[in-house]
Amino acid sequence: MSAKTGSVTIDGNTVELPVKSGTIGPDVIDIGKLYAQTGAFTYDPGFTSTASCESAITYIDGDEGILLHRGYPIEQLAEHGDFLETCYLLLYGELPTSAQKQDFDYRVQRHTMVHEQMARFFQGFRRDAHPMAVMVGSVGALAAFYHDSTDITDERQRMIASMRMIAKVPTLAAMAYKYTIGQPFVYPKNSLDYTSNFLNMCFAVPCEEYKINPVLARALDRIFILHADHEQNASTSTVRLAGSSGANPFACIAAGIACLWGPAHGGANEAALKMLAEIGSVERIPEYIAKAKDKNDPFRLMGFGHRVYKNYDPRAKIMQKTCHEVLAELGVKDDPLLEVAMELERIALHDEYFISKKLYPNVDFYSGITLKAMGFPTSMFTVLFAVARTVGWIAQWKEMIEDPTQKIGRPRQLYTGEPSRDFVPVSKR
Ligand code: SDX
Repeated sequence: MSAKTGSVTIDGNTVELPVKSGTIGPDVIDIGKLYAQTGAFTYDPGFTSTASCESAITYIDGDEGILLHRGYPIEQLAEHGDFLETCYLLLYGELPTSAQKQDFDYRVQRHTMVHEQMARFFQGFRRDAHPMAVMVGSVGALAAFYHDSTDITDERQRMIASMRMIAKVPTLAAMAYKYTIGQPFVYPKNSLDYTSNFLNMCFAVPCEEYKINPVLARALDRIFILHADHEQNASTSTVRLAGSSGANPFACIAAGIACLWGPAHGGANEAALKMLAEIGSVERIPEYIAKAKDKNDPFRLMGFGHRVYKNYDPRAKIMQKTCHEVLAELGVKDDPLLEVAMELERIALHDEYFISKKLYPNVDFYSGITLKAMGFPTSMFTVLFAVARTVGWIAQWKEMIEDPTQKIGRPRQLYTGEPSRDFVPVSKR
């Protein structure tokens, strides 16, 4: 079968461009030689129609609401697996055998401590610093403590840095939380599984034994799975771009955390809960629906809409189920925020504006209610997203580094500024 091609004609000059097909999903037009052949760039702010790379890690079908990690549907991973198993899958491409899983879990568990000097690093922050600001600083600072795994050309160092981040980011996240509430840091416990250990580091205090609630630990582990990776989202693209210059992995992940913080991205879970609290009651929902529709009002329904999903975000369905499980386990009845969220979802899903623009709840819509019920403050919601997404960022960064065709990312632009002009001395301005 002859190779697929597309063609572009500019000022009568037609060029043929190769079309590449993936395993599933849309074809891509390889425009690598477009500028050389036509003198024109493509233009796609926000990359709505642009593939930035080739990847084999995650696939999303936005129209069908499908999310696959290395081919496995998110629903099956969330139902039958655990978070570290998903980490292994994202990093190595296959589900681990029992022996591989045991070895991987053991290696992660024995990298959870951070250099003791990092505890003093935290002292530099104000107690009321936003935990995401602390995370950007402390994860970036890992490069200062673990310089022996920053040579990205060395496969062994790449894997050590990867394991260190998967293992240490939860410890730093728990330390960021403890620091802001003025409680002492809690060391990781290797006798606990990954997520129970995180809960213990967040909620244990020296004066009494902290009892892990297995239902909550399982729920949070599932929430981590839901947030692990998601194709070339803004923060992953940030990590890839930072990594394309050869920056060390700790700095790249810190850049990803900074990007994730934005309310249009990972910060939406914090913003969604604040929005639900601001709406406050079912009676006020119509007022906010009207604001969301008003072109002159910058207000958007946080936790709604998605660049890729034009159907229900499959993670949101699992998130909603987990939310009900957690509230039931905690005996939280008639949570006003949940009541507002469910009524808001019901109204929005029947409203022409949201239907026509294919706006559905995304992963951030129900996560805030769940995390708040578990005892996390709103300011920690995006931190938890970062804990989970660290493995996705690392898997995508590794894939890029190991791609022989990769080069430094350097987009061009459409220049609309002043043409060349001569300097005017200040006496003549
Ligand atoms: C995440 O990319 C990923 O995969 C991200 C993520 C991941 O796992 O990494 O899934 C995580 O970031 C989820 C998204 C969380 N963000 C929010 O919930 C914030 C609220 N959502 C919006 O800001 C928005 O929907 C985005 C940012 C998520 C997507 O924006 P797009 O794709 O650029 O869409 P758009 O802004 O062009 O909106 C299309 C239309 C617009 O109206 P028109 O200009 O066509 O008239 O829909 C409207 C928008 O005004 N719209 C909304 C809306 N989202 C879009 N209107 C009201 N409320 C909203 N939430």
